Amino acid sequence: MPGLFITFEGLDGSGKSTHLRRAAAWLAERGVPHLVTHEPGGTPLGDAVRSLFLDPRWGTLDGVVELLLVFASRRQHLLQVVEPALREGKHVLCDRFTDSTRAYQGYGRGVPLAVIDQVDRLATGGRIPDRTLLFDLPAAAARGRGHSLSRQERGAADRLDAEALDFYERVRRGFLEMAAGDPRFHVIDSSGPPQATEPQVRRALSDLLEKEA
Ligand code: TMP
Repeated sequence: MPGLFITFEGLDGSGKSTHLRRAAAWLAERGVPHLVTHEPGGTPLGDAVRSLFLDPRWGTLDGVVELLLVFASRRQHLLQVVEPALREGKHVLCDRFTDSTRAYQGYGRGVPLAVIDQVDRLATGGRIPDRTLLFDLPAAAARGRGHSLSRQERGAADRLDAEALDFYERVRRGFLEMAAGDPRFHVIDSSGPPQATEPQVRRALSDLLEKEA
């Protein structure tokens, strides 16, 4: 049986990457075959695009320029990593996918969602994850605790860390609008400490263990 394609989404600083690593360790302990990957990136070409995409030298970029960069990375990632792993029966846990493009380039930068869908059809054939865990918390809280802030303090901020709070508020609203009424999404309240978030993540993935048993 093919594996499930499971994406982890949310604002920078939402804790999604930490919880993805923890979930992967939890699955590994129980012998559930899976693969951990991320976007933009996940392949040598994709990681090169990621560095380019996040390079602070470009400042604020046009949303369509951003969109074309992330979809180039995404197509390579699907062809080279995601689809082969799913075919082998591994569950793929992916840090960000097209919902991030809709939230950041669509709601954040104002690229029409219809344009994003058009490019998505070309680049991925309209590939939709089987399940999406959305790590939600207020934008101000995400920025306050997020890696963005600590990276800025270290002088290692990436290009999107420089965006103002209202950009992140639009991105959060976008994620929540996409999740509303769509059973693919599991909204995880990540406003509390990791101990409060982790059980929600395990609940959203618990059926993966049952299927292996
Ligand atoms: P990360 O730090 O979660 O790996 O994400 C890198 C940044 O890239 C983050 O600020 C969100 C942004 N991004 C987009 O703007 N569009 C996309 O399609 C993806 C995948 C990420």
